[in-house]
Amino acid sequence: MPAKTKKTYLTQGRNSSAWTVTLILTCIYLAWSEIARWFTGTTTQTFSVEKGVSHDLQINLDIVVAMRCADLAVNMQDAAGDHTLAGELLRKDATSWSQWGKGKQIHKLGEGDDGLPGWEEMWDVHDQLGAAKKKKKFPKTPRVRGPPDACRIFGSLDGNKVQGDFHITARGHGYREFGEHLDHTAFNFSHQITELSFGPYYPSLTNPLDNTIATTPSHFYKYQYYLSIVPTIYTDDAALLPLLEAVNRNPVHHPAKSVFHSSHAIKTNQYAVTSQSHEVPETYFPGIFVKFDIEPITLTIAEEWGGFFRLLVRLVNVISGVMVAGGWVWQIYDWGLEVWGRRSRRRGSLGVLGGSAQKEKMGYE
Ligand SMILES: *[C@@H]1O[C@H](CO)[C@@H](O)[C@H](O)[C@H]1NC(C)=O
Repeated sequence: MPAKTKKTYLTQGRNSSAWTVTLILTCIYLAWSEIARWFTGTTTQTFSVEKGVSHDLQINLDIVVAMRCADLAVNMQDAAGDHTLAGELLRKDATSWSQWGKGKQIHKLGEGDDGLPGWEEMWDVHDQLGAAKKKKKFPKTPRVRGPPDACRIFGSLDGNKVQGDFHITARGHGYREFGEHLDHTAFNFSHQITELSFGPYYPSLTNPLDNTIATTPSHFYKYQYYLSIVPTIYTDDAALLPLLEAVNRNPVHHPAKSVFHSSHAIKTNQYAVTSQSHEVPETYFPGIFVKFDIEPITLTIAEEWGGFFRLLVRLVNVISGVMVAGGWVWQIYDWGLEVWGRRSRRRGSLGVLGGSAQKEKMGYE
């Protein structure tokens, strides 16, 4: 019965090649996800309580307000109630509103906090470390084209470690200010934020309020931002963690304090923001108010990158694992067919014999 033999082998051959293809696809899929995981590395986040350490917190600001510089007052008040004329420490340049926010990805802030980028976006350690290497100067104000109807306020200033209040109000219409009266039609607190960050100034690090715009047709409008700041350490070398923690606890006197200026670790500050902005009656002070609180914790984000050899070992493991398991499954399948075939043979229904049972039978003949 040569015809029957041929048919049986064919059936089995088709089955096993389908199985081989399945195994190869599984291998490719698993190897692919392994390689993808290797590229991203594994990131761990840990929080630790920061006890009583207090050092000054630098605030970096770059904002364009749709009013003339001469009409604006910039103030800061810290937890102790100390009042700083922040306007004197920051630079104010006349500019044209329409010159800003072009060619950049600028997003609009809603009334609530929708539309703000999530924290997850800031958790790529390599992006953060890479961005921290870039230059640390505020860009120059471009030459004014168009009406000088806006004011760019920018620079860095020292704040208090615990909390603070930063406000931009109209001349003569801020707290503790009883100056000359400014015509209300000049009020326009529409603004574009290019940078609002805390700690060392790293222009390319993304913060929630960077590149945001808010406009209002109302002269009496109060923009309010509540920022919750979390000191954050980024590192791509998990072996540095104990040292980083020690330096963080004693940032001023620790002999290795420069570790946060290395290419493997930075210390910066992330923040979450909620905004509550609304129109106010004419008896209130319109303006831009930023209130910030610094959380008494430190977030440490460490990334481990496996190295090429480790990837190789994992790939070999995955592929050989799939092959071995695949072989077992095949054998069990084969054995199952055999048992089933024997049973059906015993019942005498030769017509439904499985492939290997048939083969076995032929072997006996
Ligand atoms: C303020 O300026 C912006 C941008 O030019 C404009 O869209 C808005 O209507 C102005 N608001 C007021 C109150 O003039």
